Amino acid sequence: MIVLGIETSCDETGVALYNTTPWEAGKPAFEGILGQGLHSQIAMHRDYGGVVPELASRDHIRRVLPLLDQSLAQSGLKLGDIDAVAYTQGPGLAGALLVGSAFAKSLAQGLKLPSIGVHHLEGHLLSPLLGQTAPEFPFIALLVSGGHTQLMKVSGIGQYELLGETLDDAAGEAFDKTAKLLGLDYPGGAAISKLAEKGRVGIFDLPKPMLHSGDFDFSFSGLKTAVLNQVKKWEANSHSDPQGRDQFHADLARSFVDAIVAVLVSKSEKVLEQTGCKHLVLAGGVGANAQLRQALNNMASKRGYAVHYPPIELCTDNGVMIAFAGALRMLNQNNGSTRSGAFDVKPRWDLQSNNLAN
Ligand code: KG4
Ligand code: ZN
Repeated sequence: MIVLGIETSCDETGVALYNTTPWEAGKPAFEGILGQGLHSQIAMHRDYGGVVPELASRDHIRRVLPLLDQSLAQSGLKLGDIDAVAYTQGPGLAGALLVGSAFAKSLAQGLKLPSIGVHHLEGHLLSPLLGQTAPEFPFIALLVSGGHTQLMKVSGIGQYELLGETLDDAAGEAFDKTAKLLGLDYPGGAAISKLAEKGRVGIFDLPKPMLHSGDFDFSFSGLKTAVLNQVKKWEANSHSDPQGRDQFHADLARSFVDAIVAVLVSKSEKVLEQTGCKHLVLAGGVGANAQLRQALNNMASKRGYAVHYPPIELCTDNGVMIAFAGALRMLNQNNGSTRSGAFDVKPRWDLQSNNLAN
């Protein structure tokens, strides 16, 4: 079965074609990726310091068809070869989601194919299955993106249990807001991580929120405020030496990254301990973070766990993960596919409410 995937939940337009044949034959899942197209709107939103929803929707409209053509050309397939259309139904920006939904549903209707609405986070948390060493079920997923920070137990396709989540800012949001305080462009996650490499360890004693809370929830807004206080203190001392400022920013970035990584790793370790799961999966945009990967690897090798990552280019939003998650849903019973023409999106959507029947 060949599934077309359309991702338009936020600021990336992603289109991909996925063939389920290797998966069904027990071969590595990545062998099913036939073609893909991706356009990031980051440059467009940068001047505004964040995503402008209306601009995002308009740009998805402009990009989606050329990206489909690109995916078809790459795969050597024709529209008539597609068996189903998967699209991100939520969560995300309502207008942006509607572009993908309208496009996918119209195409499916025209080609007389089923369409299937995919939960964006399901796309992220199944994407490590597309890596070189796929995790075994059950596994724990640490989902860290611009909009979510969650620890989930994944017992199978469509079997998700939320164990903990952020009470305020998402990890990616904390990275982006802190990066802004340090004068870095939006989205600052990758930039702050690079800056932190030039910083010295332990210069600032930043809080590690909820490290010992005894549950698996997170809170990151206090950490961002602590960074703001350090910036204000530094400015009040009227330092004007630009070299001194660069080192100050690098040291602060280092302490920030170390604090956030310490919390994410400690909670992941406790979840593994408590659930008895041996496999941890890191997914979502923050999953591209080098310091987090290193720290998780260290913890896992000490404790005898295995950590699995999606290929680095599939950490941030993309069409492949939506085509793949849609395809796996189609292969399972109760797949939720529809031939109706309604453009239904769910800007807010709880992943567990979309679980498959046992
Ligand atoms: O999953 P994603 O592409 O979009 C959402 O679904 O939110 O994640 C985007 C987030 C942004 O906050 C971005 O700053 C962060 O992922 N990010 C990073 C890195 N690369 C992307 N955060 C930390 N380190 C990185 N290397
Ligand atoms: Zn995402």
